[in-house]
Amino acid sequence: MIRSVFRGSGSALPAKVVSNAELSKTVDTSDEWIVERTGIRQRYIAGEDETTSTLAIGAARAALDDAGIDASEIDLIVLATATPDNTFPATATKVQAALGCTGGMAFDVQAVCSGFLYALATADSLLKSGMAKRALVIGAETFSRILDWEDRGTCVLFGDGAGALVIEAEEGEEANRGVIASRLHADGDQHDLLYVDGGPSTTQTVGHLRMKGREVFRHAVVNLSSVLREVIEDAGIAAADIDWVVPHQANARILDATARKLGLPAEKVIVTVDRHANTSAASVPLAFDTARKDGRIKDGDLVMFEAMGGGFTWGASLMRL
Ligand code: COA
Repeated sequence: MIRSVFRGSGSALPAKVVSNAELSKTVDTSDEWIVERTGIRQRYIAGEDETTSTLAIGAARAALDDAGIDASEIDLIVLATATPDNTFPATATKVQAALGCTGGMAFDVQAVCSGFLYALATADSLLKSGMAKRALVIGAETFSRILDWEDRGTCVLFGDGAGALVIEAEEGEEANRGVIASRLHADGDQHDLLYVDGGPSTTQTVGHLRMKGREVFRHAVVNLSSVLREVIEDAGIAAADIDWVVPHQANARILDATARKLGLPAEKVIVTVDRHANTSAASVPLAFDTARKDGRIKDGDLVMFEAMGGGFTWGASLMRL
């Protein structure tokens, strides 16, 4: 039996931090409103010399260092992003070139805020099928570039960043390590609740993010608790067996409501939305790396990842470190 086992993680953030108070100088909002409705206190915003690929490269290098694996040993890069450097080629190929590991596969996946879950499940499948041995799974975004900075309903919610995991195919009898179970979903009927109003084939512009926040919120809690239950059932565990939930960091209230529905104590939920805001596909690996580096998540822990995003798309994945 082949398992995709965890080897290391890394993350990268832009240099510039923007607080709620700073934002309220240019947008009709307040620190009080943002903290109360979302839990967000600040976000990192990419400067001119920072792009999705530079952040992804930083996170990938940190993950390789953490894993003690040389870039030449990587034969698969799956990069989740909705804000690629260019329409093509895939940002993953830029990362591949920068790392100097041109021997294997490299491609992007696009599932917006669920992108990391889609990327992890894709990499896991390729490792299990024997098509690759060692993968970098990256989530990287520069959402600041697709925000309408005059729309207070959306621009206060997002930030930029990247996170990466190294996973490796391991053959053996031990079934209880690495990626244990994953589930992915999509519902294209919900397009109009969260989308970007531009693109190469429609407007030939990049466009801006548009969202009906209240409706997204409602769907998020329902979809996330349902996919979490599916993965718990697939894995044959009880919710209480989970050491840590690493959720997509969209809104502290969504995290609380989802944990409550599953009866998970709030102390088991990793929250970084206060510092990073919503970094879309980067948010899960960024939160995971933050919690590993601060000593909360440890080797042997059972970790549940979950996310929902535009499409809608959503998914969850259970991994034993
Ligand atoms: N500052 C101050 N007021 C704001 C504001 C801001 N940044 N954004 C919106 N408001 C106002 C609205 O105009 C509205 O005013 P009105 O009642 O006079 O019309 C009021 O606040 C309430 O707006 P509403 O959208 O109903 O607030 P909410 O409690 O639903 O919170 C979100 C808004 C966006 C924070 C919340 O719906 C949310 O987080 N949704 C999920 C978003 C998400 O997760 N997206 C990503 C998924 S990947």
